[in-house]
Parts: sequence; C-alpha cells; structure tokens
Amino acid sequence: RSVLVRSSSSAKQSLLRRSFSSSVPERKVAILGAAGGIGQPLALLMKLNPLVSSLSLFDIANTPGVAADVGHINTRSEVVGYMGDDELAKALEGADLVIIPAGVPRKPGMTRDDLFNINAGIVKNLCSAIAKYCPHALVNMISNPVNSTVPIAAEIFKKAGMYDEKKLFGVTTLDVVRAKTFYAGKANVPVAEVNVPVIGGHAGVTILPLFSQVTSLAQTVATPQANLSADVLTALTKRTQDGGTEVVEAKAGKGSATLSMAYAGALFADACLKGLNGVPDVVECSYVQSTITELPFFASKVRLGKNGVEEVLDLGPLSDFEKQGLEALKPELKSSIEKGVKFANQ
Ligand code: NAI
Repeated sequence: RSVLVRSSSSAKQSLLRRSFSSSVPERKVAILGAAGGIGQPLALLMKLNPLVSSLSLFDIANTPGVAADVGHINTRSEVVGYMGDDELAKALEGADLVIIPAGVPRKPGMTRDDLFNINAGIVKNLCSAIAKYCPHALVNMISNPVNSTVPIAAEIFKKAGMYDEKKLFGVTTLDVVRAKTFYAGKANVPVAEVNVPVIGGHAGVTILPLFSQVTSLAQTVATPQANLSADVLTALTKRTQDGGTEVVEAKAGKGSATLSMAYAGALFADACLKGLNGVPDVVECSYVQSTITELPFFASKVRLGKNGVEEVLDLGPLSDFEKQGLEALKPELKSSIEKGVKFANQ
C-alpha cells in the first residue's frame, strides 16, 4: 500500500512539474544598453526571472563579457550577447519584451532634459529597429528624459505603421519604489506592505506621488497617511520628485541611479511578462498613451494583460495638495511631449 501511495504521489509530482513547465510560455526579453550601469544589474535580475526563456543582451560595446558572465548562472533562460548595430536585428528578432536603458545618464547639475540631444537620437534609432524586427514586442522605455523619449518612440512607430499604444511603456516604477521607501520610513510602517501610486511623468515636478491613496498590501496598516502632517507629506512629495537628483549628487559625477533602477525595471518587466502570460489583475504605474487627462501621455495605474495595456485606471480621488500638483505639472509635461514629437518628425 505504501508503495502504491509513493508511486502515485511521485506520478502526481511529475504531472505537476510538466503542467508547470508547459504553463510557463517561452518568452524572449531583449535589453538594449545591456552593458551599462543599469543594463548589467538588470541583465542579472532578468536572468533570475523564471518567466524568461531567452535573454538577449545588446549594446554598442562590452556585451560579450556581460553575456558570458550572466550566462553562467544556472537559471532557465539562455543568454546571448550582441554588439554593434550589425547585430541589432538578431538581438531583437522574436522578442516579446524589449527594455531600453541605452543612453547617457545625468551628472550633477543636469536635468533629465539636458540628456535630450544625445538620448533622443539613440532612442529614435533603436525604435526604428524595433519597428522592423520585433513590431509586436512590448517596449519598456527607461532612457531619459522618459517624458519625451516615449512620445519619440510613438512617433517612430507611427511612421513605420505599426504603432500599438497598448505596447509602449515609460518606466516610472523607480518613482513608485522611492515613494514607498520614503513613505514607510516617515510613517514607520513595514515598507513591504506599502503601496503608493505615482502619476504624471518622470522628471521633477511632473512626478506626483499620491500619498492620499496609500494602501497597505497586507491590510494590517490602517490608512497610515492620516498620521502624517501636511508639512511631512509636502516634504515626502519633494523627496520623491528629487530622488534621482539625490543619487546623482551622492555619486558625484559617476552616473545616476543604476541599482535601484535595475530593481525597478526588473519589477516592471516582470509585471509585463505576467500580463502577457494571462495572470489576472496585474496593476503597475506607467507612463503611457492616455486619455485620463488632456495630455496625450500620462503616468497612472495601468492594468497589464495579454496585449500590454488592458486598462488605464482612473486617478481616483486626489487631496487638494495633489490637485494643485496635478495642475502644476501639466505645462512642463505638455512641453516635454511636444519636444519629443517635434524631434521625431524633423
Ligand atoms: P550608462 O552610461 O552606464 O549605460 C548606458 C549604456 O547604453 C552604455 O553601456 C552604452 O554603451 C549604451 N548605449 C549607448 N548608445 C547605445 C545604442 N545606440 N544602442 C545600445 N546601447 C547604447 O547609463 P545608465 O546609468 O545605465 O543610464 C541609462 C539611461 O537610463 C540614462 O538615459 C538614464 O538617464 C536613464 N535612467 C532612467 C531612469 C528611470 O527611472 N526611467 C532612472 C535612472 C536612469
């Protein structure tokens, strides 16, 4: 009898294993700018993600070393490095998700917009290649200024006749990650339980954390924002908006956020893959084409699904302070969008 039980339970286990592996589809993820400060730790984190079956690492330099290094890790995905524009097609072919951290980062004293001239050109070229070699892939744009690079990508895709607004995302997850960390520190609640939506865009005042909507994931913390004064909430908002600058200054000329950005990028990519795989109720903030305000691109909570954006969620009720912040961010965001559109069409 015991033999019978053992054999039936091991048969059950092997059935479970088979149904697990067949329920996790093959997914190719390409990282463009994979040898950079963000690219390398992002490559590492995506190599650890069991939803990835093929990891394609592209850069204009140094990818063979990064690919050889990451490729020795004994996890599911196969890893291939591609270097230089001649290999871009191979890097992109068959990709389900393309993550773009290519470009130059800020130095102290620079705004994200100061990066425009270099990064806009890089993004334009990479997006032309995406349109050609993997037009159905989801695109996660990390390269700054995100407020402009996402509209640039949209224009390039429109020109190529393959633009699908559901598949283009500006990665603003780091703003959410920062808002959660800073908030939990001040409110003295467990950081892993805190959720904070961040809306608007991804630069300075266009980053608007909605601390009035803080929720506790485990629901063990009762509406914690009630405990914080208006002054503290103002300071938390400012710190979230200036979080990138805090890192740029601390690194004193050696770049901007790379490790926390890689974490945030990996988190958002994982959410996109879950959506593609049909996992229900995957919601993350992202900067996408939007009609929830009068601006054509806007960051807000987005439900992810098998085709990318399934639903752009409403902003929900805002405090008076947040309403003012929303009105104050619109002119800058509008002009950054227009700058991107103009660049792509010149
Ligand atoms: P980095 O300079 O360390 O790395 C950039 C990489 O891009 C380099 O390896 C470079 O060779 C590569 N690259 C340059 N031109 C390329 C091209 N045409 N094709 C492919 N790769 C190319 O810079 P880091 O720190 O990794 O930052 C990358 C970008 O991410 C910057 O634009 C930065 O502002 C942005 N960023 C965005 C954040 C966000 O929250 N969305 C947060 C932090 C940074």
